[in-house]
Amino acid sequence: MAFNSAWKAAALLTWLLATDSVNCLPNPVIGSVAEEVLQRTATRPTVAFETQYPPNNSEDRILIPEASPVYRVALENEGHPSQFPFPGLDLGRFLKGVNGLLTDTETQHPHLSSTTQRVPSVTDSVPTEAPQTALPVSTGDQVPTGAPAMNNQDIFLPVATEAPPANIKRRHDHPVVNKNANSSAPIETNKFYAGLFLGSQTNASFTQPYSLAWSGGGGTLKSWGVSVSHVETNVLAFGPKNKKIPGDPIEYYINPVGLQHIILSAAELDESSVLTVEEPKAFSAHAVLKRSAGSEQSITFPVVQGMGYVTGVYNNLQPLIESGVFIRKVVSAGSPKPGIFKYQVVLEDDTHWVLYATPTDDQDPKFKLASNSSLRGPAGFSGTIQVAKNPAGKSGEKFYDNSAGVYPVAGHVTGSVTGDVGTYNLSWTKAGKQARDSPLIMFALPHHVQSFDRTTVGRVTDIHLRTTTKGNATAVIGETWTMTEANLPIDMGFAPWSPVHGSVNALSATAQRAILKVAPTELTQDIDAQSDLNSMYYSGKAMSKFATLIYTVTQLGNNVDIATEAFQNLTRSFDRFVQNEQQFPLAYDTVWKGAVSTAGYAGDLNADFGNTAYNDHHFHYGYFIQAAAIIGALDPSWLVKNKDWVNMLVRDAGNSVEDDQYFPFSRGFDWFNGHSWAKGLFESFDGKDQESTSEDTMFAYAVKMWGRTTGDASMEARGNMMLGILRRSLDNYFLMQDNNTNQPAEFIANRVTGILFENKVDHTTYFGNNLEYVQGIHMLPLLPNAGYTRQQSFVAQEWNSMFAANASAPAAKVEGGWKGVLYANLALIDPQAAWEFFTQDDFDYSWIDGGASRTWYLAFAAGLGGGS
Ligand SMILES: *[C@@H]1O[C@H](CO)[C@@H](O)[C@H](O)[C@H]1NC(C)=O
Ligand SMILES: *[C@@H]1O[C@H](CO)[C@@H](O)[C@H](O)[C@H]1NC(C)=O
Ligand SMILES: *[C@@H]1O[C@H](CO)[C@@H](O)[C@H](O)[C@H]1NC(C)=O
Ligand SMILES: *[C@@H]1O[C@H](CO)[C@@H](O)[C@H](O)[C@H]1NC(C)=O
Ligand SMILES: *[C@@H]1O[C@H](CO)[C@@H](O)[C@H](O)[C@H]1NC(C)=O
Ligand SMILES: *[C@@H]1O[C@H](CO)[C@@H](O)[C@H](O)[C@H]1NC(C)=O
Ligand SMILES: *[C@@H]1O[C@H](CO)[C@@H](O)[C@H](O)[C@H]1NC(C)=O
Ligand SMILES: *[C@@H]1O[C@H](CO)[C@@H](O)[C@H](O)[C@H]1NC(C)=O
Ligand SMILES: *[C@@H]1O[C@H](CO)[C@@H](O)[C@H](O)[C@H]1NC(C)=O
Repeated sequence: MAFNSAWKAAALLTWLLATDSVNCLPNPVIGSVAEEVLQRTATRPTVAFETQYPPNNSEDRILIPEASPVYRVALENEGHPSQFPFPGLDLGRFLKGVNGLLTDTETQHPHLSSTTQRVPSVTDSVPTEAPQTALPVSTGDQVPTGAPAMNNQDIFLPVATEAPPANIKRRHDHPVVNKNANSSAPIETNKFYAGLFLGSQTNASFTQPYSLAWSGGGGTLKSWGVSVSHVETNVLAFGPKNKKIPGDPIEYYINPVGLQHIILSAAELDESSVLTVEEPKAFSAHAVLKRSAGSEQSITFPVVQGMGYVTGVYNNLQPLIESGVFIRKVVSAGSPKPGIFKYQVVLEDDTHWVLYATPTDDQDPKFKLASNSSLRGPAGFSGTIQVAKNPAGKSGEKFYDNSAGVYPVAGHVTGSVTGDVGTYNLSWTKAGKQARDSPLIMFALPHHVQSFDRTTVGRVTDIHLRTTTKGNATAVIGETWTMTEANLPIDMGFAPWSPVHGSVNALSATAQRAILKVAPTELTQDIDAQSDLNSMYYSGKAMSKFATLIYTVTQLGNNVDIATEAFQNLTRSFDRFVQNEQQFPLAYDTVWKGAVSTAGYAGDLNADFGNTAYNDHHFHYGYFIQAAAIIGALDPSWLVKNKDWVNMLVRDAGNSVEDDQYFPFSRGFDWFNGHSWAKGLFESFDGKDQESTSEDTMFAYAVKMWGRTTGDASMEARGNMMLGILRRSLDNYFLMQDNNTNQPAEFIANRVTGILFENKVDHTTYFGNNLEYVQGIHMLPLLPNAGYTRQQSFVAQEWNSMFAANASAPAAKVEGGWKGVLYANLALIDPQAAWEFFTQDDFDYSWIDGGASRTWYLAFAAGLGGGS
């Protein structure tokens, strides 16, 4: 190579492993070896080595365009249509003919309408004429209100094993063709590695703290290898300050993409090389990079969440280790263990990395520094090459040495609930040299470390590396972590719930009167019309609203009679979906394997928020599941014909087992990240994302309650466990109080993340920027679970800076359904104020969004302490 003259072996030194004590670890095998320092000695113009951040290369997508409108367009292109989330109440339709409240000509979209409707006041008399037929159940305690005590309940038992119902038509023509994921098992659609198999296959997979991307001939080096990136705080790009929010928080932050710190490649790779994904699972996938299609010469990367090193398993190729930020120094640092050869690498951004080569023939591979951006191994190399970033000096290096040669190939989760305490384990299958004798090193996120049990805490190291959007990761030794979540909301049922009062199954006489005043109006809404829609999302919201309303009237208002007809109509409307006769029936997609809306088969993949491409299934189906839990509790005989269909939704959006041939394990909820991802099969610069944490929580709650209604104790316990984990992860990453240290200080005053991606966080929504939208989409639906994940101290901080009378967007001035959302949320900290809002004489029904009812909001406020 022409560059060789500028580089030469410059010194020899003996590098001894640090002798600091390392608690509870087997001693690493220490080779006292002379090590060669490969270092550039030629004089060089310093400026050439001042690596620019972000690199000045238009081919790398570094930063978001400064003009945010461009960016907003980009957001929409990422698979989420710019749609208003509420169709709102079609007042004209549902109130037509009711007490002459509204005529057809007054029909308006509620959020555009300021028409105030006169509705019965809570002081009016209770209607005396009630329908004669009764619900199949009586009131009160027949609907189970308490959970059976659980003892060591396994949370991952199968929901069901049979095929989806026969009327869900099989379709083999999914609009997203699977070209690169080689699996006969169901494929995870919403996980961190989708960039490996979607579209260009060059977008990043976020294992945390590293991200990996196939370079695919792009980037400054035009490499064909897989690049490893780790982004430090100093290169983050911050958006402009939002002056409308107290504290002037930045609107967004984003990690630069395209930084190629270390690339694991091979000299033979070129444009004929192909990347396929094997064994796509919940916590891992194997990226197989072949010299050419069908070639045996390959590098396999087990891509596993939390992996301590990025590992390439080479088969008969010449290793080429490259760096897009340039190599300052490489030290050949001997063998920490027999047959494992170590190199220390310093990059031009002052970061320190370690590289371990473990050849299958045990021969020293004698890597050579070929240029300021590449290191070469021997031809025909077979074995593993591992790289890790070491921010912790000798102490950190000792840990890395100790685990060198082994790597995780798949992850697993197990868990159980006893009483109100949940325990879950993350564990990994490992491979590599003497895998039995070497412990793994894995990175944990802050919410893991907080809930580690004592044994796991004892294996925590001092290696901390920043993650892209979740604070610092911490390296932990071992192949199993045990996490405990106490105070699971096991007593939470359908009734209002708060940490202080628990489940409030009986309301005061005042509250009951208020409910029964308002309910008749809402019970006359046209359930059929409001749920006969072209969207599973909106239909599900309608089902949830009416089920919750009927529950409230019959079980909290203690009046079955006035709800009987609505209940019958609700079950009839629900049946349209079970019969699969809705406007866009579901199909069973045999390509990726799941139950999808057929709306997106017609050409617009974004139809119904991208349901067909697996966006948002936990939101869409969660509403149906929650409604079904109520209907089945009110009328257990209903379950006979409907249970299989609802279970299909549960299995699709949140399956409990890894070996179901019809659905992947836990499509939405990511048991490593501790929350769900909403983005499905859409290639994305910034990885998966999720906007609505409250609808994510609603899904967990729906699973819990459907488990209770159907007597599936494992499902109920799993829902409780998910709620416990969500409470912690939302507190750490999404619902930001002043004490939050995981998000940048400049961002905290936004109080909510807006949309949290794997690579960026943006205080916005997919449908607009009004503060009540951005904050409100993390509030709704205000079901019993809201008070569990939305801590009072958080709600107070958010309210005071945003929605109080003297704040940015006073709730009193907000219009449309969002106003009701804000005031129902206010009940979590000031139930009396919420009560007064919802009982006011001049109540305007446009303040109630299409997924809620005033009746339930009244019960909610009363249950939390209002009106007494
Ligand atoms: C790397 O080497 C190339 C070729 O000699 C030179 O053009 C470039 O400036 C160097 N860059 C750095 C950062 O050292
Ligand atoms: C980036 O590159 C362009 C084109 O080569 C050049 O005009 C510009 O000054 C560079 N920017 C920086 C910050 O170096
Ligand atoms: C897909 O996986 C199967 C089973 O592991 C394997 O036999 C086959 O070679 C793989 N196909 C490709 C294209 O990699
Ligand atoms: C978690 O792992 C620990 C330690 O290996 C084990 O004792 C425990 O039974 C596991 N618990 C579950 C729920 O898998
Ligand atoms: C129930 O459905 C029937 C038939 O569509 C309709 O006439 C009636 O108004 C509905 N009642 C309620 C309370 O929804
Ligand atoms: C990443 O995904 C975007 C969006 O589909 C695509 O335009 C781009 O080519 C992909 N690859 C990279 C490296 O950005
Ligand atoms: C912030 O403080 C509250 C108590 O006021 C606590 O419950 C919460 O866990 C803390 N959050 C973080 C991220 O430290
Ligand atoms: C994360 O790590 C960085 C660098 O080690 C450190 O400066 C920062 O304080 C850490 N943040 C937290 C919340 O621990
Ligand atoms: C609104 O007033 C309260 C009470 O005086 C105060 O604590 C709070 O900081 C004010 N909020 C804003 C955004 O000014």
